[in-house]
Amino acid sequence: MLKGKKVLLGISGSIAAYKSAILVRLLIKAGAEVKVIMTPSATDFIAPLTLSTLSKNEVLSELSVNSSWANHVMLGRWADIMLIAPLSCNTLAKMAIGLCDNLLMAVYLSAVCPVMVAPAMDEDMWLHPSTKKNISALESYGNSVIPVENGELASGLKGDGRMSEPENIIGFLNDHLTKAGQLGGKKVLVTAGPTYEAIDPVRFIGNHSSGKTGIAIADEFRRRGAEVTLVCGPVSEHINSSISVIKVTSAAEMYNACVDLFPQMDIAVMSAAVADYTIADPAHEKIKKKEDFMVISLEKTRDILKTLGGLKKGSQLLIGFALETNNERENALKKLTDKNADMIVLNSLSDPGAGFGHDTNKIIIFDKNGGENHFDTKSKAAIASDIINSIIKFSNG
Ligand code: CTP
Repeated sequence: MLKGKKVLLGISGSIAAYKSAILVRLLIKAGAEVKVIMTPSATDFIAPLTLSTLSKNEVLSELSVNSSWANHVMLGRWADIMLIAPLSCNTLAKMAIGLCDNLLMAVYLSAVCPVMVAPAMDEDMWLHPSTKKNISALESYGNSVIPVENGELASGLKGDGRMSEPENIIGFLNDHLTKAGQLGGKKVLVTAGPTYEAIDPVRFIGNHSSGKTGIAIADEFRRRGAEVTLVCGPVSEHINSSISVIKVTSAAEMYNACVDLFPQMDIAVMSAAVADYTIADPAHEKIKKKEDFMVISLEKTRDILKTLGGLKKGSQLLIGFALETNNERENALKKLTDKNADMIVLNSLSDPGAGFGHDTNKIIIFDKNGGENHFDTKSKAAIASDIINSIIKFSNG
């Protein structure tokens, strides 16, 4: 899979940098073209000369050398894949907040290709809450984190935090590249976020959806090679620039956008938390405070998933969500048939770590052929991957 691929290898300051020589060698042997960028402190751990000799390319580490500027934007665009291995705690923190104080960070921040990282640090650092938070931030940007390994650490202690062995990193890259072509040529529609229903020009009825799950699904579809359109309610989450985004506010706007787009789609995943009711007669001017009580009349919104279920043709796949607090299974199965969906992803608000405001989720996927798959509590990125694996498995019969 790596043959002919352009790999940008970023090396940051960690003792595991000595393994980078083997990594470069394995990449070259697999037929990849490799360019290496080092942080200044990485050069304390391994000589740039070793890496330039093995990669057959000049090793870069400064933003400018002898008054000539290293074009970080073009480096980021050159690569098919960017791999940062080892990823030190310091570079991880910089990536999480977007601090741009060296060439590696400038390239990372301007890269348009998939980014993978292989962290390497002592166990105490690896387990620190700030490290966990920074790793989650990277995952939320769509970066893939190669799991650390357990074993002897530079401190002499044993535990988690060792950089994945170069052979395993190559396996991870191959797996990524295999998945990258899985949905090539497929058009996918995803909805995400809440909808806001206006009461008057300054107030609305909304819900707590952050859009994280839908955005993670859109991101994972993109990683698998699909052409993704995301119809998104008001959210503040970062959305990858290669996803085509249609921003909407109300349930009616989301309905119109989805009905319009659905005929051209191969797959549609409705993960938005759409308002079930909207204001019957929103005020055109700000409502003034008068009586002690006020009544707002609501009317039902149109069900987007159900409408698309009625429009579905041929091999089109339609996936809905069900967020339940009680009778979860029964309600999810009812939604599957009532809305003519192919699959329903159930998440229960009663599961710890699931639902609104969490970075994790716990799901069960039901399909119309009677399939029922339970998954553990995982990050929303990992859940997105499970959902897409299930869709691919279902469509392959
Ligand atoms: N949905 C939709 N249009 C709506 C309401 C919901 O497309 N107006 C979709 C959601 O995106 C989700 C699925 O329907 O994929 C189920 O949403 P959920 O809120 O769990 O259920 P409802 O059908 O709204 O029913 P209830 O709120 O009574 O459980």
